[in-house]
Amino acid sequence: MTFDPLVIRKDFPIFDRKIRDGKRLVYLDSGATSQKPSVVIDAESNFYRNHNAAAHRGAHQLAEEATEALESARSVVADFLGGATDEIVFTKHSTEALNLLAYSIGDSPAGNVFHLKAGDEVVVSEMEHHANLIPWQQLAKRTGAVLKWFEVTPDGRLDLSDIESVITSRTKIVALTHQSNVLGTINPLAELVKRTHDVGAIFILDACQSVPHMPVSVAALDIDFLVFSGHKSVGPTGVGVLWGRASLLAELPPFLFGGSMIENVTMLDATWAPAPRKFEPGVPNMAQIVGLGVALNYLTKIGMQEIHNHENTITKYAISKLREIEKLKIIGPTDMKLRGGAVSFTLGEIHPHDLGQFLDNSGIAVRTGHHCAWPLTRKMGVAATTRASFYLYNTLEDIDDLADGVRDAQKYFA
Ligand SMILES: Cc1ncc(COP(=O)(O)O)c(C=O)c1O
Repeated sequence: MTFDPLVIRKDFPIFDRKIRDGKRLVYLDSGATSQKPSVVIDAESNFYRNHNAAAHRGAHQLAEEATEALESARSVVADFLGGATDEIVFTKHSTEALNLLAYSIGDSPAGNVFHLKAGDEVVVSEMEHHANLIPWQQLAKRTGAVLKWFEVTPDGRLDLSDIESVITSRTKIVALTHQSNVLGTINPLAELVKRTHDVGAIFILDACQSVPHMPVSVAALDIDFLVFSGHKSVGPTGVGVLWGRASLLAELPPFLFGGSMIENVTMLDATWAPAPRKFEPGVPNMAQIVGLGVALNYLTKIGMQEIHNHENTITKYAISKLREIEKLKIIGPTDMKLRGGAVSFTLGEIHPHDLGQFLDNSGIAVRTGHHCAWPLTRKMGVAATTRASFYLYNTLEDIDDLADGVRDAQKYFA
């Protein structure tokens, strides 16, 4: 099947609607959340219409069907990431998955492989989304561990020149983003994972901006944990994924406690079901999990490599068009070998919020602000940026509209 974004757009009902008094929707905010194809919307609705019951609980046919639907979605996610089914934990989103890790690590008793003591080190980077920064800041405060980080170079790459003094024999956890949601930078994981494992630490990958956009194999990357969000991967909101090596999930204490995550309970104590169940208390977001399975099958059918190639074409074109605009400065690498499809920029003295509103009047949806990566925007010397982020349904025409809109804004605010 040849990749054609115009055909793909037909799968997404939102592109049938008009925006701001009859304008075509130019959706360039997939980094925040992606649009959903009909198959995903229908799968959620179908679950509620035909199979709704509490998975893993009832003794009746509907409960059996709900359990079967949820567990097949788990297999789909496992296949998508190249992991095992028992290594997939469903959460509400990546933010919850990262908090799960930080809290569970913080609760690990002495003798446990995850136990953190004062003086142990946790490593992040200046380009982390707040979701992969604040949980580790808080964990460091709770345990007395030391938070360290890789700095970002002026052109928006991780500065690895000092890798040996950032990741040291005291390092216990390294938690880094695969692709920056602001700069688009794709980080060189091989070197980082190797150094992490050489010092006996655990590598956690925030794959929110990579899993939806390129082939990602947990085995090939040799990482220990990975998180991503369903809603950024053409799936529903309300479902995130934590993948962890089976041997590590077995050691990790649970984060939330309650029904369905236990093996045995007395009035004074409880023991835990094996992973992934011990991390999934409460009735899960079943319809959303089922929708995520359908979403990942949809992406697989189109082809993750094809999606990645398409986004590279769009991003390369966007960078070349935007660079022609006077006073426009791209914040992040412009070399396609170093980046994926999120392009942030400033436009002279025009405030990104004003630019965003101006573009919105033409039906062009971009994101403006610090993109939940405040330390990074500060480091790059800007208060805020405008970000255009791309996905499988974007076209070169979308980019032309963006570039025209930016030029019009420049004239308007002159
Ligand atoms: C790199 C990165 N990490 C984490 C998150 C948090 O994702 P969620 O809000 O789905 O939990 C985002 C969301 O934008 C992100 O871009």
